[in-house]
Amino acid sequence: MNKIANLIRSNETKISVVGLGYVGLPIALEFAKKFSVIGLDISEPRIEMMRNKIDPSRELESSDFDGADIYFTADPTELQKSKFIIITVPTPVDKNKQPDFTPLIAASTTVGKNLTKDSIVIYESTVYPGATEEICVPILEKESGLKVGADFKIGYSPERINPGDKEHTLTKVTKIVSGMDEETLEEIAEIYEEIITVGVYRASNIKVAEAAKVIENVQRDLNIALMNELSVIFDKVGISTREVLDAAGTKWNFLKFSPGLVGGHCIGVDPYYLTYKAESLGYTPEIILAGRRLNDYMAKHVAVNTVKKLGHFHKVATESKVLVMGMTFKENVSDLRNSKVIDIVKELKDFGVDVDVTDAFTSQDEIKDFYGLDSVDYTKSDKKYDAIILAVSHEPYTKLTAEDFASMTTKNPIIIDVKGILNHNELTENGFTVWGL
Ligand SMILES: NC(=O)c1ccc[n+]([C@@H]2O[C@H](COP(=O)([O-])OP(=O)(O)OC[C@H]3O[C@@H](n4cnc5c(N)ncnc54)[C@H](O)[C@@H]3O)[C@@H](O)[C@H]2O)c1
Repeated sequence: MNKIANLIRSNETKISVVGLGYVGLPIALEFAKKFSVIGLDISEPRIEMMRNKIDPSRELESSDFDGADIYFTADPTELQKSKFIIITVPTPVDKNKQPDFTPLIAASTTVGKNLTKDSIVIYESTVYPGATEEICVPILEKESGLKVGADFKIGYSPERINPGDKEHTLTKVTKIVSGMDEETLEEIAEIYEEIITVGVYRASNIKVAEAAKVIENVQRDLNIALMNELSVIFDKVGISTREVLDAAGTKWNFLKFSPGLVGGHCIGVDPYYLTYKAESLGYTPEIILAGRRLNDYMAKHVAVNTVKKLGHFHKVATESKVLVMGMTFKENVSDLRNSKVIDIVKELKDFGVDVDVTDAFTSQDEIKDFYGLDSVDYTKSDKKYDAIILAVSHEPYTKLTAEDFASMTTKNPIIIDVKGILNHNELTENGFTVWGL
C-alpha cells in the first residue's frame, strides 16, 4: 500500500471529513491549513453557511476559514477523491436512552458507496467499545464490495473537543489514535501528528480507544452526580454545598467538581452507550446508571425548591412569575440540544408558575423554533419576577449585580443560583433569598 501520508503531502489524494458539526468542522479546517480537504455534510444549508465562512455551531470565527484549502460539499461522490476519510457524525440516544446509530449507519453507507481501494476510514464519533468494528465495518464492506484489511483499513480516533472552551482547543489536547493493525496505526498517527501540536497517543487497538473516550464522560458524569447527591444532602442539613466543597478542596487529593445540570450530547449521552454494551454482555451496570438517574433528576430538584422558596413568602405558585436565565446545555455556547434547563421550565409550568425564559447566547427565534417558547429580552422589559433562576452561567450573567437583579424582581425576591456563580453575601445583604445546588 502506498503511504497515504505521502499521497496527502504530495496532493495526490485528499483528506475528507464527513459530518461538519462541533467536531468535524474544526478538524477539517485544521487539516485544510496544510492539505487539500473535502468537507462533506448532508445538510445543504449548513454547507452553504460554511462556504460563506460561517460555522453553523458558532464555535469558530470567519477568520478560521481564511486560507483553508477546503471544498465544502453535500455531494458524496466527492469522497472518491480521498483515501483518508474521517467520520464525525452524531451518536445520540433515542427516547428510551438506547444508542441511536442512524447517523453512523447512514454515514458508513455513504462512505462505503464511494470508498476506493487502499483507503483508510477513521471514525471519531463516540461509541461503545466494539461498535466501529461490529456495526460500521460490515456496512463499509457491503457498500463498497471491498474487504477490510485486504482492500481498505480502519481506525478510530476519539475527539475531546469541549464546546465553548477557547483554551483546550483541538491542536492543544493529546489525541488518541488507533488502527486495525500496526501499519494503519502508524499511518493514522503520522497524519494526525501534522496538526496536533501536543502529539498523539497510540492506543493498542480500536476497542481500547473507543472505551477510553466513553469513560472520560462516564467519569465526569459520575463525579458530578456525586456532587449533586451531596448537594441534596447538605440542603437538608442546612449548609452550603459550595462552602463544604471549598473547605474539602483544601486537601491535595480532593477532586474539584461542582453540582449542576448535566445536559449536552456527550456527558449525559455517552454513558448510555457503555451501559447498553454492558447489558448486551449480561451485566447490568449499577453505578453508571445511578449517576445518570441522579443527574437527570436535578432539574426537578431545582424547580421544586424554587416553588418551596416562593411558598416561604406566601407566594402561591400559580400567581408567581419566574425568569429562567440561560437555556443552552452549558455556559457560553448557543446549543439548545439536550439542555436540562427545559426540564426546569416544564416542571415549573406544571406547578402553574408563569415562566419566562431568556438566553444570552441564543436568539429568540432559535428558542421559538426549538422549544416553541417565546423568550424575553429582560434588558428591554420592565416585568418584575418573584424569582430568577440563573440556570446557565453565561459570561454576561456572571457580571450581574444585586442592583441589576433588584430592578427585575418584586418584593422578597428569590435568586436560584444553580451553578453557584453569584456573590451570595452581597445578594443576601440586599434582601434576596438565595438558593443553589
Ligand atoms: N460536541 C462535542 O463536544 C463532542 C466532543 C467530543 C466528541 N463528540 C462526538 O463527536 C460526534 C459528532 O458530534 P458533534 O457534536 O460534532 O455533532 P453535530 O451534531 O454538531 O454535527 C454533526 C454533523 O454531521 C452532519 N451529519 C449527520 N448525519 C450525516 C451523514 N449521514 N452524512 C454527512 N453528514 C452528516 C450533520 O448535518 C452535522 O453537521 C458524536 O459522536 C459526539 O458524541 C462530540
